[in-house]
Amino acid sequence: MKNIFIVIVSILIITSFTFAFFQETINNSTNNDNQYTLVASQSSQEYIPGILTPTYEFNKELPGPLIKGEINKELSVLAKNNIHEPITIHWHGMQLPNEMDGVPDVTQEAIKPGDSFLYRFIPKNPGVYWYHSHVDTHKQVEMGLQGPIIIEDPDNLIPADSDSVLVIDDVAIDNEGKYSSFDLNYMHGRYGNLLLVNGQRNPTIEVSGQFHRFRIINTANARSFNLDFGGNNVTVIGEDIGFVQPYTKRVLTIHPGERYDVIVETTSSFALSYPTSRSNTQLAYVSVQEPEYSREEFSLPQIEEENLPPEAITMEPTYVMNLRGFRDATQGLVWEIGGKNSLTNPGTFEVKEGELTKIRLTNLQGQPHPLHLHGQKFKILSRNGKEPAENGWKDSLMIGSGETVDIAFIAEGEGKWVFHCHILEHARAGMLTSITVK
Ligand code: C2O
Ligand code: CU
Repeated sequence: MKNIFIVIVSILIITSFTFAFFQETINNSTNNDNQYTLVASQSSQEYIPGILTPTYEFNKELPGPLIKGEINKELSVLAKNNIHEPITIHWHGMQLPNEMDGVPDVTQEAIKPGDSFLYRFIPKNPGVYWYHSHVDTHKQVEMGLQGPIIIEDPDNLIPADSDSVLVIDDVAIDNEGKYSSFDLNYMHGRYGNLLLVNGQRNPTIEVSGQFHRFRIINTANARSFNLDFGGNNVTVIGEDIGFVQPYTKRVLTIHPGERYDVIVETTSSFALSYPTSRSNTQLAYVSVQEPEYSREEFSLPQIEEENLPPEAITMEPTYVMNLRGFRDATQGLVWEIGGKNSLTNPGTFEVKEGELTKIRLTNLQGQPHPLHLHGQKFKILSRNGKEPAENGWKDSLMIGSGETVDIAFIAEGEGKWVFHCHILEHARAGMLTSITVK
């Protein structure tokens, strides 16, 4: 009797140990899923057949590896710098603690060659984001220090048949594969002569089924793209941050820094192209295969309307900022925002944490400017007094020539959040200021 008792007790002890062991491994593997290492190093790409163009890449991939995270679950990324210039990593569109924002001399010291830095933050919103160096951004992003991020909300996954990331970019190189000058005197920023999807010229994207989800990011220094999905309708389900009330377009325009999450319904292969008034260039070929399984009803995401208080519309702007450029005798072409420019007259605009903040932006000149505000999510209230096409939470927005745009947000997260043009040459030539949340 005594023996049987001992056997039973030992079996119980062993089982609970084994159970604890398995629990442990499950926990570890989920943790590992949210830990990444990004090593910046020199590499090369064969943009022109037979010729190698030197690049900077994260983990020898261009674009860098896809980072996947979940809302409310910490993501940690160890950044290592193995190139000969300092770097940082900025998490474009993410709301995070200011010291994780990756802006050299503003939120951190740049990561010196040979050094590393651990970025840790808890994603708040689902959506499509991207990461890129913020040191000599116009050069390091062009040379390849950029990659995609997807943040999922496990309670709102979309049952599409296929799911692809499209990083749309261009690169300016000559026939010998050399970069054109990185100087800043391009009135409209640096336009590339080669158009890239996921780092390649005219790649084939393999998908299968009927409902295709594309998470699209424009990482070009200056170019806005029009995207035509073989004449199919495009249902937009997300803009920059989170989901939106779905709406349909024939041609989707995406400006530098912006992201779109879309669904295209088709069972036939098609060309993804970039139509302009003068040309229509094929960017990629989307090869659609038969579905591997038969699906149930397809449904779009559930949107919980989350809006700003209605007084956002009627209140006076907290700040009015004009955008303009001028020629300076010593600096050359200089761009400014709100009377400030980062070269000779940097400055900041203070706002209070938790306070509804409204900014009126007017573009006084001929060049459109795609602005980007770090660390906040805003709504576009109006464009020239009219309701805007965009309805979601944004961190990037185009301001056309002569246009006046009102945006508003609840200021979140203490610290200095830079606000700049995402034509990276304009930002480098002064069109960068900051909003300090106190
Ligand atoms: Cu994607 Cu401050 O930039
Ligand atoms: Cu600009």
